[in-house]
Amino acid sequence: MNLNGTAALVTGAGRRIGRVIALALAERGADIIVHCYQSRADAEETAGQVNRLGRRAMVLSADQRDWNAVESLCRQAWDTFGGIEVLVNSAAVYRRTPLGDIAESDWDEMLDTDLKGPFAFARFLGPRMKERGCGKIISISDTAARMIWPGYIPYCVAKAGVDAMTRGLARALAPEVQVNAIAAGTVLWPDGFDAHQQEQALGHVPLRRAGSPADIARAVCFLVEHGDYITGAVLPVDGGRHLEG
Ligand SMILES: NC(=O)c1ccc[n+]([C@@H]2O[C@H](COP(=O)([O-])OP(=O)(O)OC[C@H]3O[C@@H](n4cnc5c(N)ncnc54)[C@H](OP(=O)(O)O)[C@@H]3O)[C@@H](O)[C@H]2O)c1
Repeated sequence: MNLNGTAALVTGAGRRIGRVIALALAERGADIIVHCYQSRADAEETAGQVNRLGRRAMVLSADQRDWNAVESLCRQAWDTFGGIEVLVNSAAVYRRTPLGDIAESDWDEMLDTDLKGPFAFARFLGPRMKERGCGKIISISDTAARMIWPGYIPYCVAKAGVDAMTRGLARALAPEVQVNAIAAGTVLWPDGFDAHQQEQALGHVPLRRAGSPADIARAVCFLVEHGDYITGAVLPVDGGRHLEG
């Protein structure tokens, strides 16, 4: 897909990885719908950077646990841009939830944000892309979806669900729309991860370093621009972390 003249909706694009993905797509010619939840000021900053690249940008916020909110955001974006060719699901929540401490609300928040949310966007946009004859949907999953870390079960289960959702959507939306996921490894450290924890984590990464948001953005751009014959795939971008179990 040539990104020139397309519109891309990137969730969680106010900050961190989502912002870098949004800017990479804008650099390649896409107008950007910058989705955010609470980081409105950061999202406006992303939109400003998109504008400085010569592309149109629109900031829209929604709690992606709420299907009605997602639907009205998507409707507004679709109508404003006259269609949307690319959806990148990057927004998520992540935190440690040891079995002994976990509350029902932790489970609900993570499953609703990290799995139901991406599905809500795809459920609205996917069929419309299909009807238009083309589209790309990419969700940022996690290498942890394969391993299911015991201290992070709801997050890992949600991401395993994202991988399963990707395969299901790929079949439901074929042949017009390609649906893939990226299984990211360590890219940006969670708050409070000290040097010792970082060193320990990197000990399980064959390439012996953390990735960068740019590594994830490049993989997104590859799947969008050169992935016309790739669908239902979960591409590891994790320095080989998945090889170590
Ligand atoms: N960081 C890593 O090393 C890493 C590793 C593997 C996989 N990943 C995956 O890569 C993606 C991006 O990672 P990240 O570290 O950049 O993410 P992040 O900073 O933890 O979160 C991204 C955005 O998700 C949004 N969000 C949270 N709850 C939401 C809700 N209820 N409704 C709508 N949006 C909500 C937040 O938007 P607001 O700020 O606007 O509230 C936040 O900025 C995530 O899917 C993550 O699981 C990241």
